[in-house]
Amino acid sequence: MTLAERVVSLRGKVFELVNGDNAITFPNERFGPERFREIYSHPAARGRSEGAGLSDLFWYWLSPGPEVHQEHLEDGPRYDEVARTTLRILSGPSDRITEAVTRCTAAVLDGFPGGLVRLRDLMMPVWAEFCYELVFGEPCPREARELIVGHANDVVTALKCTGLRHMKRRERLTRYLARRLGDVPHELPASLSPREQVHYLQGTFFNTAVVQLSEGMAHVLLALAQHREIQERASTADDRYLGHVLDETMRLYPLFGIAHRITKDEITLDEDTTLPAGSVLCFSYPAYHATGYEDPGRFDPDRWEALSAKEAHHIPYGIAANRPCPAWRLAPLAMRAAVREVLRRFTLDSTVTHTRSLPSRGPCLLVPRGESVSPARLRAIRTFLRVRDRWEDVGRSFLQLGLGTFMVLDARHRRLAGRYFADPAPSRCPVH
Ligand code: HEM
Repeated sequence: MTLAERVVSLRGKVFELVNGDNAITFPNERFGPERFREIYSHPAARGRSEGAGLSDLFWYWLSPGPEVHQEHLEDGPRYDEVARTTLRILSGPSDRITEAVTRCTAAVLDGFPGGLVRLRDLMMPVWAEFCYELVFGEPCPREARELIVGHANDVVTALKCTGLRHMKRRERLTRYLARRLGDVPHELPASLSPREQVHYLQGTFFNTAVVQLSEGMAHVLLALAQHREIQERASTADDRYLGHVLDETMRLYPLFGIAHRITKDEITLDEDTTLPAGSVLCFSYPAYHATGYEDPGRFDPDRWEALSAKEAHHIPYGIAANRPCPAWRLAPLAMRAAVREVLRRFTLDSTVTHTRSLPSRGPCLLVPRGESVSPARLRAIRTFLRVRDRWEDVGRSFLQLGLGTFMVLDARHRRLAGRYFADPAPSRCPVH
């Protein structure tokens, strides 16, 4: 284990200790991958926030408005109305989605001559523009793009413990959205107050959607940068092969490390094991995705020629029976279009370590197609990227440990979810 990995594992232990939940992770030695989907799909395993210490931390990270974020709403009419609205906003013909993503990607890349970038940072403005169009049905003004990127970046940086959260930065977007709420052409959930509607849009579309798509793109582009033959094939490939590249990327680097549920009722797993109501079930995506494949650690899009995504141990967008990702149709379509536009313009190269949580944001060299870099220069850049990455990794691990511990303690002190469920009256809603 490297020093950085040791610090990451220590951070996990601090989180467990401070949150104090009685958590059980699947798959495990007794209940392996063959029981994974069945347990995840259990009707009693649908609680999201109430009754777990961990929720205070998630609410802290997702503020403002975590109490109306779809991910954290408990089942009920309010959840149903919000979930229906999200699906409506995300719906639309494939060709319109493809056209909008291609245009937003082109607009951002037009101003980029190539060179060294962090892939997550490169892609975030693209998704800010695209998500703004989804919500407002018109092109994204520069002011809005900057506010959205500032907000989404702040959330994901805090989530990865590479920075603290900055509520003032996030509230600038809240104020903008409050001013523009009347311009949203979609019907918004009537059970939410105007302030809650703003928080719903901010949390779901300008945080989750922008962050997930940016992270997803950083992973797929970094995987291509490190597999040059696959990259060349992908640059002229049809949708089917690009689909395989995305499936394989999401298998090896699923965006959720762990998804959790709080049991609402007892769950009997076998004659000796019954989980009481209020248990925290943790579903490990990387562990599940690593089972049932030949040589699971290898990045091999071709394996999907012979596999059926339905039967394989592959749940990049969650489980259909238990609150799956509402963007399961849109996200792969959108990422395919963005990958095409990037590969049409650039070749990619990188020697950094590719981990699932990717706190480095994916350092990468982009060379405009048609231009070439001499072998000596390419060797020098590769060495620079590798050495800088290892160096940053050590410092960052300690930073993450320190900031993570601070945020865990601060979240525990603020107790946003705990206080909300003790008295969910709107006047007592946790602001943040
Ligand atoms: C590459 C892109 C994405 C991936 C891989 C992804 C993955 C996931 C996964 C695995 C879950 C379920 C986790 C669980 O079981 O708790 C989820 C939930 C969710 N995702 Fe995504 N997501 C992506 C993009 C998006 C986008 C674009 C949106 C836009 C609105 C979105 C909104 C949500 C919401 C609201 C939930 C909560 C669903 C619920 O509890 O009803 N995601 N996502």
